[in-house]
Amino acid sequence: MNTFRALEAYENTNGQFEQRIIQRAIEDLPDGELLIKVAYSSLNYKDALSASGNRGVTKKFPHTPGIDAAGTIVVSRVGRFKVGDPVIITGYDLGMNTFGGFSNYIRVPANWAVALPDGLTLKESMIYGTAGFTAALSIDKLLRGGVQPEDGDILVTGATGGVGSMAVSILAKLGYRVIGATGKSEAREMLMSLGAADIINRREMDDDSGRAMLRSRWAGVIDTVGGNTLATALKTTQYGGCVTCCGNVAAADFTTTVYPFILNGITLFGIDSVNCPMAHRLAIWARLADAWKPDTLQHQYQTITLVALPNAISLMLSGQHKGRTIIKLDD
Ligand SMILES: NC(=O)c1ccc[n+]([C@@H]2O[C@H](COP(=O)([O-])OP(=O)(O)OC[C@H]3O[C@@H](n4cnc5c(N)ncnc54)[C@H](OP(=O)(O)O)[C@@H]3O)[C@@H](O)[C@H]2O)c1
Repeated sequence: MNTFRALEAYENTNGQFEQRIIQRAIEDLPDGELLIKVAYSSLNYKDALSASGNRGVTKKFPHTPGIDAAGTIVVSRVGRFKVGDPVIITGYDLGMNTFGGFSNYIRVPANWAVALPDGLTLKESMIYGTAGFTAALSIDKLLRGGVQPEDGDILVTGATGGVGSMAVSILAKLGYRVIGATGKSEAREMLMSLGAADIINRREMDDDSGRAMLRSRWAGVIDTVGGNTLATALKTTQYGGCVTCCGNVAAADFTTTVYPFILNGITLFGIDSVNCPMAHRLAIWARLADAWKPDTLQHQYQTITLVALPNAISLMLSGQHKGRTIIKLDD
């Protein structure tokens, strides 16, 4: 246990970022009340940004990314967690500017840890990971906005992505009719198997007509890509509907008028998984362990090891990655 393996992102002599497997010592880990032996991590878009040198996510390199980790406590300096407890860590600073979950061990503050709820395995918690947690936060907002299955179709953008695919399967489990917007024409079968009723080409959600409002199509939209897709979502959501915004894969900026808000009473909800307060975090994980657990959860992921991570990262950066990828750490 004195040394262990981790993925490290570093800048090579040509100024390009690459990833390699390194050996680290427990003493190298940051301070924290909990030392955790990681069983599984998962790959999220933010990890791909960190691993490729994005200074908006990670300021200092070399660095070990991984915003998610699930594992067992090896050392605890607080009373409420004991050695052997299974825990989930997602968000906060893990993998951003704190040594992250693409590693056999992490050390973190105790107030980042969620006790693994009954009804979930460590592996299942990482099939969800930040992506599933964010999808659930978004669906929770639709519910708070009063969007019911009988109100009409729910659009999920970036539908084959991590957040998107999890949103499709959880919404289907909850009885919503889900339409997936995707740039991958070959993904119909995948999305239908997760419970989507239909798919549309993502270009349909990239309106350039210049019109302030378009035909109402959606009772709710879970947008994971931002940019003009989000602007188009606002124009095409029906009276009283809700749109959630969590991501910027397409673009960070978008242009809207006030009309969707003042003529159709649309609500736009922002989603943040990183600093989500602990009480809400626990409530969302409890739902993911129980009533919101999709029947398809065991079929919507692939498992890789640290060695295969660089390839998965480049697929994600090029928009080619599908579904969820979990990383099994060494035994
Ligand atoms: N706010 C939060 O707390 C939070 C939490 C998690 C993630 N996020 C953000 O949510 C976004 C999605 O994360 P993720 O982990 O699901 O990423 P992901 O697995 O890479 O999925 C993104 C999906 O977006 C679609 N896409 C890619 N490039 C696009 C483009 N240029 N225009 C439109 N669509 C494009 C692709 O799906 P299709 O081919 O099916 O269209 C892709 O699979 C990221 O921006 C991430 O940073 C935010």
